[in-house]
Amino acid sequence: MRTNYSGFALAVSMGLIVLLLGFVALSAGGLVQLAPTEETAAMPIDSLGKAGMGDSLRATVVAYVPANPQEAAAIAAGDALFKSNCAQCHAVNEKVVGPALAGITKRRSINWIIPWVHNSAKVIASGDEYAVRLYGDYSKQQMPAFPNLTDQNIKNIVAFVSAQEGSSATDSAPALAVQ
Ligand code: HEC
Repeated sequence: MRTNYSGFALAVSMGLIVLLLGFVALSAGGLVQLAPTEETAAMPIDSLGKAGMGDSLRATVVAYVPANPQEAAAIAAGDALFKSNCAQCHAVNEKVVGPALAGITKRRSINWIIPWVHNSAKVIASGDEYAVRLYGDYSKQQMPAFPNLTDQNIKNIVAFVSAQEGSSATDSAPALAVQ
């Protein structure tokens, strides 16, 4: 009886030791992990960013999902209009010749944006404080007038800009972008 009992106990403890050793070996090899550490959680985005190929992936991860087909169509139309009329001087999330347009609807109302795009010189000449300051900040570089864009065209461009906002990791996922 006594021999049997210690034989059983020995078998159980051998089994536990084997399991433990196996786990240690796997976790040392990085195959098993109980919980991601701060370091490993931040790793993928970090290393992608350094490799310079993170942008498209980030955009995929946080891509804006339109609420309905009408909105999707407006964004697609705005995308095309933006590329053919504005992209030579503007990007959504970075400054090019003109300011980054991200957040434009928070800075200005649509009732300011439409006349501005139609004819920014006229808005500046009217003495609009924001326009005069911005024009000064950009070394009095005149943005071309776009009299042919309809109000709806401009709203579509704004919809496109809003959909693209925050498609960089720094805007939308500060916790993951920690370096
Ligand atoms: C040739 C360059 C150029 C083109 C093309 C251009 N812009 Fe601009 N834009 C500027 C500059 C420069 C400014 C800064 C104000 C100034 O200097 O007049 C500006 C300012 C703006 C602003 C105000 C931004 C803010 O942060 O308040 C908006 C909105 C804007 N542009 C929208 C557009 C849109 C929409 C188009 C395309 C239909 C467009 N721009 C095409 C150069 C350009």
